[in-house]
Amino acid sequence: MTFVPRPCPPQRRSPLTTSNSDSRIHWSDGGVLVELGGRWRAGDAGVLLDGIRGALARDVPLTLVHRGAGGGSLLRAASVEWPRLRCQELVPGRHASFRPRQPRWTHHRLPAPRPGGEPAGVAISGGLGGIGLELAAHLAAAGHRLWLLDRRPAAGLPAAARRRLAAVAARTQVIVDQADVTAAVPPAPFPITRLVHAAGELDLAPLSEVTGDDLERLAGGKAGGLRSLVDAPALAGLRSVVAFGSTESRRPHRMFGGYALANELLRREAARLREERPGMRVVVAEWSLWSSIGMGAFAAAMAGRAGFAIVPPAWGVQITDLLLDERRTVPDEIVLGGPQPTPDRPLAAITGVGGSSLAMDDASVRRLVELCRPSRAAPHRPVGPDDRVVRAQVADHTVYTWGSGCRDWNTRTPRRQG
Ligand SMILES: NC(=O)c1ccc[n+]([C@@H]2O[C@H](COP(=O)([O-])OP(=O)(O)OC[C@H]3O[C@@H](n4cnc5c(N)ncnc54)[C@H](OP(=O)(O)O)[C@@H]3O)[C@@H](O)[C@H]2O)c1
Repeated sequence: MTFVPRPCPPQRRSPLTTSNSDSRIHWSDGGVLVELGGRWRAGDAGVLLDGIRGALARDVPLTLVHRGAGGGSLLRAASVEWPRLRCQELVPGRHASFRPRQPRWTHHRLPAPRPGGEPAGVAISGGLGGIGLELAAHLAAAGHRLWLLDRRPAAGLPAAARRRLAAVAARTQVIVDQADVTAAVPPAPFPITRLVHAAGELDLAPLSEVTGDDLERLAGGKAGGLRSLVDAPALAGLRSVVAFGSTESRRPHRMFGGYALANELLRREAARLREERPGMRVVVAEWSLWSSIGMGAFAAAMAGRAGFAIVPPAWGVQITDLLLDERRTVPDEIVLGGPQPTPDRPLAAITGVGGSSLAMDDASVRRLVELCRPSRAAPHRPVGPDDRVVRAQVADHTVYTWGSGCRDWNTRTPRRQG
């Protein structure tokens, strides 16, 4: 599918367009420079969208400079939609750029679940959604008391979801409050020490059709919800937060621009909270598609059939429970594409395309590489006969594959080999 930018005739503009105190677009014959500030502000979506469209219309490069506001994910989504768009993101002093340098290939093993621990009061925003209810069922079985916050009314749930909620309520104390968490958080029914922020929405549209106002609404929703929850007096006793992000924020697909940006801003807000409140743990879990439940259920069913790794709900809720446990050391940001491989199971993973994919044998790896290859001419390092665990990543026009130990699980680009 190809998206063609809407006609956007080059307009004569003043050399400097100011949107708010920190956000500006500088137009010159050599390119467009969008300058945002230290954090995302109302109006930034329109400024960035104007910059992207202006760069396309004039056929000049676009540079985004900011001190933490974000927006790189939107540039990535735009350049998927318009391959001729040349853009870069600069974060002064942080050496971040749109074309990231190869990160170090690091290994991380998720800690094993630790039994015991006191039942906690857990709040789940988006608690009546597909993942929220699945998680509620898991946490109820462990004896935690639950406070589900959702803007959906419980009475409006489909019958199956209502039955699921009733089953949860039969196991533990559950209070459901209807609330838009970006606006106001009601008083808590009991002391809350853990929060899962899963409220979010998916609104797919090509950037060529998105208005600044649409993007504005989507962009700040998840980060704004996290901020208002954590700042609410009802949650003053919080010790641990797991915010649900998405792999789309790292490598977005066409039509995911707004969703990618919302998840990038969520990650940035979580980083700010970590600095402001060292006593509270904030983990951002960036998932690929969950199978069979939630907003991606339909797409996940198709992706799963095509061989992509999708998050099995039982594994996903178990991992969330583990990430919530403040006694455990886990990374601040973690990208999760599916179960970790085990020593006795040779696996292949392909990342960078809708999260990651697992395959059990060489034939499946080859099929996936073929499926993911952007072009037939893409270089591909064949897997050696001794490689038991095979991983691959599709980046730009290259498919990288490599063999590695079964304990490393990481969706970042490995150092280039071969
Ligand atoms: N499902 C996946 O494959 C997947 C993958 C990666 C990440 N995630 C993330 O996981 C989270 C949960 O997803 P899901 O699949 O369970 O989605 P879901 O079934 O659509 O549930 C999300 C719930 O959050 C509610 N909500 C949205 N904004 C809210 C707000 N401001 N205040 C209160 N409630 C709000 C939604 O209400 P409405 O119905 O009114 O919108 C909905 O009930 C999301 O943050 C999503 O981005 C999901």
